[in-house]
Amino acid sequence: MTRLAIIGGTGLTELDGLEITHREVVSSPYGEPSGPVIHGRLFGTDVIFMARHGHGHTIPPHEVNYRANLWALRKVGVEQVLAVAAVGGIRADMQPGGVAIPDQIVDYTWGREHTFFEGELDAVTHIDFTEPYCPTLRARLLAAADAAGVEVARGGVYAATQGPRLETAAEINRLEREGCDMVGMTGMPEAALARELGLSYACCAVIANFAAGRGDQDIHADIEAHLSAALERARALMAELLKN
Ligand code: HPA
Repeated sequence: MTRLAIIGGTGLTELDGLEITHREVVSSPYGEPSGPVIHGRLFGTDVIFMARHGHGHTIPPHEVNYRANLWALRKVGVEQVLAVAAVGGIRADMQPGGVAIPDQIVDYTWGREHTFFEGELDAVTHIDFTEPYCPTLRARLLAAADAAGVEVARGGVYAATQGPRLETAAEINRLEREGCDMVGMTGMPEAALARELGLSYACCAVIANFAAGRGDQDIHADIEAHLSAALERARALMAELLKN
């Protein structure tokens, strides 16, 4: 069976119900991953888990060692990665508490270690990133959402911002004009690095809040009020995904 890993983001530093079989400390040529690779069983299926921000949620988005995390996952035999990532909703149907399966990315991050293909190389490599997410894994996520009765936004453009600060209202207006539907801080370079390693990678975006300037309450209050409902939906989707 294909080995699936779940990378958990904000609100998902642990997978409730995961029966942990062992924790594996993997060091990489790119430095230390966010934590050990966790091996276990969830909903009756073998799964691997990595907490993107560390187990105590202490690593901010711009300091996550994305290269080490993905390298470590591949080292232990992972072939598919489901990235769970909190986002702010920009498009009108991206309502807090909901879930989206994005199909495109615009990368606004800077200064992050964003490629394995640098330094002493045998050849220059340009990965094809036309479709940044694996269409097969995306289709499985959508089918799992349908089977679980979880309504999801079936596509959308993920804007990856640098953080750790949230955006200004004007920045969100600009992202919307540039075609973005949701905004988060961890989608890149994670997706591109996964592609460079030949991993099948897709994202389950949990909509925690209205993006800056779009809601009528403070963003942190919004996140407090809605993140857990969005994560519950993501969990129902994952349960279905792991059954199949
Ligand atoms: N902006 C950026 N990243 C986020 C947001 C947001 O509004 N919500 C959750 N992650």
